[in-house]
Amino acid sequence: MHILVTGANRGIGLELCRLFVSGGHTVTGTVRDPASAGPLRETGAAVETLDVRQDASVTAFASRWGDRRLDILVNNAGVGAWTPLDHTTTDELLRVFDINAIGPLRVTRALLPALKATRGRVFHITSKMGSIGDTPSGGSYAYRMSKAALNMASANLAADLRPTGVASIVLHPGWVQTDMGGRNAPLTVAESARSLASLIERTGFEATGQFLNYDGRPIPW
Ligand SMILES: NC(=O)c1ccc[n+]([C@@H]2O[C@H](COP(=O)([O-])OP(=O)(O)OC[C@H]3O[C@@H](n4cnc5c(N)ncnc54)[C@H](OP(=O)(O)O)[C@@H]3O)[C@@H](O)[C@H]2O)c1
Repeated sequence: MHILVTGANRGIGLELCRLFVSGGHTVTGTVRDPASAGPLRETGAAVETLDVRQDASVTAFASRWGDRRLDILVNNAGVGAWTPLDHTTTDELLRVFDINAIGPLRVTRALLPALKATRGRVFHITSKMGSIGDTPSGGSYAYRMSKAALNMASANLAADLRPTGVASIVLHPGWVQTDMGGRNAPLTVAESARSLASLIERTGFEATGQFLNYDGRPIPW
């Protein structure tokens, strides 16, 4: 299978690429800054430049992709924002929404011809912090709102893409020891990515429209 992972120069995206390559897949990882791609190149994945926040970058990437097919897209790129209510600014809300919610929609839409050709699957890495049903505990407005919007984008894509056979699924990776998750997170990158990679490999069209934990359990919207 050809698998594409965004935000693949570090953290969960990098580890997913490493695992998919060792699983025998053809893997493309995308980075914002080619200078940061050293560890990704070492995995054996192909490297592409892509800033999910920029329409022009996404369009240029899709045209470089050309008429190649794509089996799995993992929309992993994202940013954190833990600001409490009093300090949340409009600029922060818009920036985080642009990257975390609009970014995956931009990339998915641009790669639809490649995904339709394989009746492929799209996995968006969301967060339980974007679940309304999981009872928010306050704070982190920009991040929570952006991931809730990403969840809606995925459910809506699942409806629109159903006739094409392309699946759209959101996955929560757990709380993970990355630059974003910090050192106190209970899961290592290797543990989270191993579960996610296995879930991604075995999850098919039957799961379209679902919100799943890294271990495969459903999460309330
Ligand atoms: N870690 C956790 O506990 C946790 C929990 C729930 C959900 N998640 C989600 O899991 C995903 C991966 O997170 P992580 O923990 O691996 O974070 P990370 O280590 O901070 O990595 C984030 C990745 O996203 C990329 N990125 C940021 N803005 C981008 C943009 N505009 N265009 C393209 N790439 C961009 C970064 O590239 P640069 O190096 O160029 O900035 C980096 O590769 C995110 O969607 C995150 O929200 C993480």
